[in-house]
Amino acid sequence: MDRNEEFRKSVTIIYKGFIVFFAFFGIVLCLLIYIALDHTFSAFKQEDDTPYADVMDIDEDRIENGIHVRTGLVEAEGLMEVVHNCTNCHSALLVTQNRMDKERWAATIDWMQETQNLWDLGKNEEIIINYLVTNYPVPKKGRRQNLENLEWYELEE
Ligand code: HEC
Repeated sequence: MDRNEEFRKSVTIIYKGFIVFFAFFGIVLCLLIYIALDHTFSAFKQEDDTPYADVMDIDEDRIENGIHVRTGLVEAEGLMEVVHNCTNCHSALLVTQNRMDKERWAATIDWMQETQNLWDLGKNEEIIINYLVTNYPVPKKGRRQNLENLEWYELEE
């Protein structure tokens, strides 16, 4: 082997080394670009058949901080009876913003049954009324107490 050929061989080796290096570098670069564009690797995940799977997974009746999230009602005994019977036609807000005692609730329910097609509530009526008067009671006092025992004084002329 003369020196010339030896030189050419080492050049080929270096040349091949460069190709391997740049090929590797290219692959890593492609990978990094891919990760930058799709860092969750979603392209490799199987598509879910049901498009609303995420939505359907959410518990409709989940409670957060003692509040039934969907309706805003307080979590207490009778909650689900109220949710199932009193939030179908109107918002729960219409229910909770009305503070009534037992008699007036019974009368309101009668009125809805007579005029608004509310169904017979059976034994749930008592549970519902108890829930309402316990958790949404009639405010005891107005914003200001009545003025009592006032001492009036004469205005001087
Ligand atoms: C079948 C449908 C339906 C259901 C179920 C229903 N309501 Fe009603 N409710 C109505 C309608 C209709 C009105 C009148 C709404 C309006 O005035 O806009 C009403 C009005 C009300 C009002 C306001 C009454 C007023 O004097 O303004 C309250 C309070 C109420 N409902 C509570 C309840 C409670 C508690 C339940 C569960 C026992 C319930 N509703 C279930 C149809 C329904």
